Amino acid sequence: MKVKKAVIPAAGYGTRMLPITKAQPKEMVPVVHKPVIQYVVEEAYYSGIRDILIITGKGKRAIEDHFDRSDLPKKDKYVDELDRILEEVDIFFVRQKEQKGLGDAVRYAESFVDDEPFALLLGDTITFPPCTKELIHAYNRYKTSIIAVEEVPTERVSLYGIVACKEIENNVYLIEDLVEKPSVDEAPSNLAILGRYILTPEIFDCIHETKPGKSNEIQLTDALRILNTREKMYAYLFKGKRYDIGNKLDWLKANIEMALEDEEVGKEIREFIKSMGV
Ligand code: G1P
Repeated sequence: MKVKKAVIPAAGYGTRMLPITKAQPKEMVPVVHKPVIQYVVEEAYYSGIRDILIITGKGKRAIEDHFDRSDLPKKDKYVDELDRILEEVDIFFVRQKEQKGLGDAVRYAESFVDDEPFALLLGDTITFPPCTKELIHAYNRYKTSIIAVEEVPTERVSLYGIVACKEIENNVYLIEDLVEKPSVDEAPSNLAILGRYILTPEIFDCIHETKPGKSNEIQLTDALRILNTREKMYAYLFKGKRYDIGNKLDWLKANIEMALEDEEVGKEIREFIKSMGV
């Protein structure tokens, strides 16, 4: 079965981005020209997906408004690009009733997903080139759940879901276990889940069986751990760029790095940084 649907959870509080996120969703925080979630929707689109479900919640209405077709009097190339995508894509919304964790948020996608494999893209993460496209390619080969991972420095393992796995071919690993935000001592590797997944619909039964874990929340990683006892699961080592917009330092770094690469402002930003003599 082909991957035709994407689910984007965008329901988390964004506490690591306060006070920026006091009255706006963290997914609407700008990175150079666009809010983060626009990059995520575009990634799904450029990976061939045309049906997208965004899981929102309290205080997240700006996300829905952002994906309305614009009736602005002035033309803007980034708005036009989005409008063109919106011509081809159907975006659905559902609201998580209570913030009970990422696993609980994904549960709301059950009827949208039905019995198909689907792409899951966390709404506060940007990847270049589109990681989802590479994951779908890998899924078509292995036909089972596959999760994108990246190597992180040891001191950062406690920020992410970490996988224990063994390499079976270039960049592809068979998952043996998964741990949500382990301490440095407990971490089975330094391969971190980066926020892009292709999952089979069996994940929903696993979420229903998942008890609250880290931070007393229903963790997706714990549900994946159950799924791993029922079907083979793979990790795909993503070699591209991944920006975590969920914390301030990484968000600032993403802005600088992406601005430097940008065709419109890159040259001037480079000159500006040089002129600062840092
Ligand atoms: C979530 C997941 C974690 C994953 C991370 C990627 O954590 O629970 O497994 O590694 O996203 O960004 P969060 O960042 O929402 O705390």
